[in-house]
Amino acid sequence: MLDIYTLGDEVLREKCKEITKFDAALKMLADAMIETMDEADGVGLAGPQVGVPEKIFVIHIGDDEPMVFINPEIIETTIEECPYEEGCLSIPGVYHEVIRPAGVTVQAQDVNGKAFTLKADGLLARAIQHENDHLSGVLYIDHLPESEQKSVIRSYERKNRSRLKAKKRGV
Ligand code: NI
Repeated sequence: MLDIYTLGDEVLREKCKEITKFDAALKMLADAMIETMDEADGVGLAGPQVGVPEKIFVIHIGDDEPMVFINPEIIETTIEECPYEEGCLSIPGVYHEVIRPAGVTVQAQDVNGKAFTLKADGLLARAIQHENDHLSGVLYIDHLPESEQKSVIRSYERKNRSRLKAKKRGV
């Protein structure tokens, strides 16, 4: 299990580095990320969220196999957009509707370095966009108008008061 970094942690705002070594350490990282995501009941988790500012994210939706995306690039988005309620393991306890393209085509590499292209819609398209944003230091709340962003942050702080205090004390 890996520690999940949360709102305010600098690593979430870093621009992630390209991954060039497809070795055993990368496979271990991907496995640990999948385990951490599953344990936290998330559908996606990106490198910076576990303190690794590198271009990797994992997605696990329903009964589908977990997927690993390395050095991903969204090469196409649909003109059609739709709202969807998003949450983030790095902003626990709060959710907010975000409008994004309904479908995407993503190019990426798997954990062995093999390139693949995937066309997605629905929750998968949503998760890909959300996780891909993390690799540029972008959080879903950044897409919201300022007033909504502030109210999401306030409610996050309310819901996480004791944990945030402990964090300040360095516990
Ligand atoms: Ni997230």
